[in-house]
Amino acid sequence: MKDVKVEAEIRALRNEIEKHDELYYRQADPEISDREYDQLKHDLEALEAAHPEWVPNDTPTQRVGDDLVEGFESYIHRLPMLSLDNTYSEDEFFAFVERIVKGLEVVSVDFVVEPKIDGVAVSITYENGKLVRAVTRGNGTEGDDITANVLFIEELPRELKGADLPDVIEIRGEIYMRNDEFDRINAERSAAGLEEFKNPRNLAAGTVKMLDRDEVARRKLSIVLYGLGFCQPEIVSSQSEFSQTLTHWGFPVGERIWETRGAEEAWQAIEELDSLRDQLPYPTDGAVVKTNRLDQQDQLGKTSKAPRWAIAFKFAAEQSETVLEGITLQVGRTGVLTPVAELRPTQLAGTTVSRATLHNQEEMQRKDVRIGDSVILEKAGEIIPAVIRVVLEKRPRDSVPFVFPESCPKCGTPTRKLEGEVALRCLNIKCPAQVKGRLQHFASRQCMDIEGLGEAVVEQLVERSLVSNLSDIFRLAYDQIVALEKFAEKSSRNLLEAIEQSKTKKLWRLIHGLGIPQVGATAAKDLAKHFGSVAHLREANVETLVEIDGIGEKTAQGIVAYFDSEVNAAVVDSLFELGVNPTAPEMIERSQAIFEGTSFVITGTLPTMKRDEAKALIESKGGKVAGSVSKKTTYLLTGESAGSKLTKAESLGVKILSEADLIQGIEKGSLV
Ligand code: IVH
Repeated sequence: MKDVKVEAEIRALRNEIEKHDELYYRQADPEISDREYDQLKHDLEALEAAHPEWVPNDTPTQRVGDDLVEGFESYIHRLPMLSLDNTYSEDEFFAFVERIVKGLEVVSVDFVVEPKIDGVAVSITYENGKLVRAVTRGNGTEGDDITANVLFIEELPRELKGADLPDVIEIRGEIYMRNDEFDRINAERSAAGLEEFKNPRNLAAGTVKMLDRDEVARRKLSIVLYGLGFCQPEIVSSQSEFSQTLTHWGFPVGERIWETRGAEEAWQAIEELDSLRDQLPYPTDGAVVKTNRLDQQDQLGKTSKAPRWAIAFKFAAEQSETVLEGITLQVGRTGVLTPVAELRPTQLAGTTVSRATLHNQEEMQRKDVRIGDSVILEKAGEIIPAVIRVVLEKRPRDSVPFVFPESCPKCGTPTRKLEGEVALRCLNIKCPAQVKGRLQHFASRQCMDIEGLGEAVVEQLVERSLVSNLSDIFRLAYDQIVALEKFAEKSSRNLLEAIEQSKTKKLWRLIHGLGIPQVGATAAKDLAKHFGSVAHLREANVETLVEIDGIGEKTAQGIVAYFDSEVNAAVVDSLFELGVNPTAPEMIERSQAIFEGTSFVITGTLPTMKRDEAKALIESKGGKVAGSVSKKTTYLLTGESAGSKLTKAESLGVKILSEADLIQGIEKGSLV
C-alpha cells in the first residue's frame, strides 16, 4: 500500500473506533457487535505494528475505553482499572496459556475460570469495613463516582463483617441487569408506546449513569464481584482465596467458578460454561480465565490496557429457531427501506425476541426468506437479532417469495435503488416516516437531547401535522402539546422547557441532529471544533472540509450537498430565526492555556465563587478539575471548612491555593 493511503487508513480506523467507543462507553448505545468492534481494533493494531512511525500517543489500541460523562464527580482509582484481551478460538486460548507458561518458566499453571458478565465495570472501596465509594472504570485511571446509584443495589453489603478486615480495599465487579428485569422494563415501555431498550448491558450502563434517582430506583440492578484492586494490608494470595473471602463477606460472586490445574482443565471449564450459559440469570458473552496465584499475576504484569495473566474467551453468538410470521418494512430517516421479520416470540441469549432485522432486499433474496418459514436467529454480539438462515426442510408447501413493494409503504412514492447502493429507498423527503425519523434523531440523546420528545410523541406530532420539519419543533405551543395523548399540564410545560433549553446546547449536538449524511457524533464534534458555528460550516467547500482530521471525501461531499439543498437551507435558517443559538466549543488560545497539564481539586466553600464557576474558570485556562485528591493532583483550591481532602493533599505535598491565589495567578499568567 502507498504510504499516504496507509496513513489515511490508520486515521479512518482510529476515528471509526473512537466513534464506537463513544457509543458504547458513554452513550451505552452501540451500533455494532463486540466482535465487529474487536475486528476493527485488530485491523488497526496490525497496521500500527507495521507502521510505528504513524502511531500517535493516544491511539485507541493502547487504552481502555472511556466512560466519563458530565454530571458526576470523578475519582482517581488507587490502582488502575484495566480491560481484558479477547480471544475467539481454541488455538488463541492455548497460545495465551503458552505465553504464561513461558513467562513464568513453569510447566503448568493453575487457573480460575468464571463467567464474563456483560455489564458495567465498577470499583467499590471499603475503608475500615465501610462502603465509602463506587466508581466506574472511566478511562482506567479515573472514573465517575456513582455511589448514590449503586446504593440502590440491595445485595451489595454496606459494611463488611469479620475479623482481619483490610484498612482499605477496592473490590472490582460488574453491575448488570437480570434478563427477567430487562424483559419486564421493556414490556412496560412497549405498553406505554415508548421505544424498547436494545439489551440488558446498555440498559444497565445507562442506568448507573442517570442523574434521576427516582428512575434508578425503578430499575433493578444487580452486581457480581470478581476482582481485587488496591488492598492495604494484603489479605489473600490467590484469586480463588479472594472469591471465597468475597462470599464470606456476603458479596454475590460468579454463579460458577472453576479452579483448574493446567490448560486442558481450563479449556474443559470454558466448554462447560458455554453449555450452561443460557441458564445463568445474567447475560454472559464469554469466560474469563485468570492465573490463580497473585504472585504469578505480579510476575506476569500488564500492558497499558490489560493484564498479561488473564484473558476473556468470547463465546460464539447464541442461536434460536422460530417462525417468521410476517415481514414489515421500516422507512428510516434517510428513506432506506429495511425489511423487518415479525417473529413468533422466542428466547434468545436470555431475552425475548419478536422482531429481527432482515437487512435489505438483496440479503433477503440471497437467503430466500419467506413468510411462514422457520428461521434461525442469532444475536450479533448480543445487540440486534438477525435472521441468519431458513430451515428449508420446514418450509410450508404453499410459500411464495416475498415481493418488495414498488412504492413506499408509508407515503406511496415509487421506490428506487440509488447507483451503487443495495438499499431500496423512498425518495420523498416529505414522507411521514422519514420526517418522523429525522425528528426523532434530532431530539435523541445523541443529538439535542430533548427529554419527552420520543418516538410516541413525534408520531403524534407528525400525524396531527403539527410538525413537518426540524424547525417546527420550536414553533410548538402549549395548547398543541397539552392536547396530545398522555399529556397534562405539567408534562406539557416540561416538554416546552426541554425544547427551550435545547436551543443553547453544544454546537456539535445541533450539527449531529441535522442528519447530514455520514456525519455522526464524532464528525460533528470535529466540525464544531473547526468551524465554531453553523454559519461557517455552511460556507465550507469540499477542499477545505477534507483538510479536517477525520473528514473524508464522501463526508465532505455529503455536507456540501446538504447545505446546497434549498429545503435544508430554509430549515437551518428558520432554526436560527426561532432562537436556536448553540454554544460554540470553547477555543482556548495557546496564550490563555496557562494551566495546561495541571490538575485541580476544589474543596470547602470559596469566599466569592461558586464551585462551578471556579471549575469553569480553571478549565477555561486549560486546567483539569478532578473530584478527589491523588498523587496526580497539582493544586488543591480550598475554601472554608475544607475537610479530608485538605489533610490528604497536605500529606501528599500537593500545593494548597486560596481563591485569591488563584485569581492573582491568573492575572500574573502563572501560579508559581
Ligand atoms: S477480571 C484486570 N472477571 O470484562 C481486569 N472481568 O472485557 C480484570 N468482566 O473490564 C477483569 N466479567 O469489566 C473480570 N469475571 C470477570 C468479569 C470481568 C466481566 C468485565 C470487566 C472487564 C471487561 C473486559
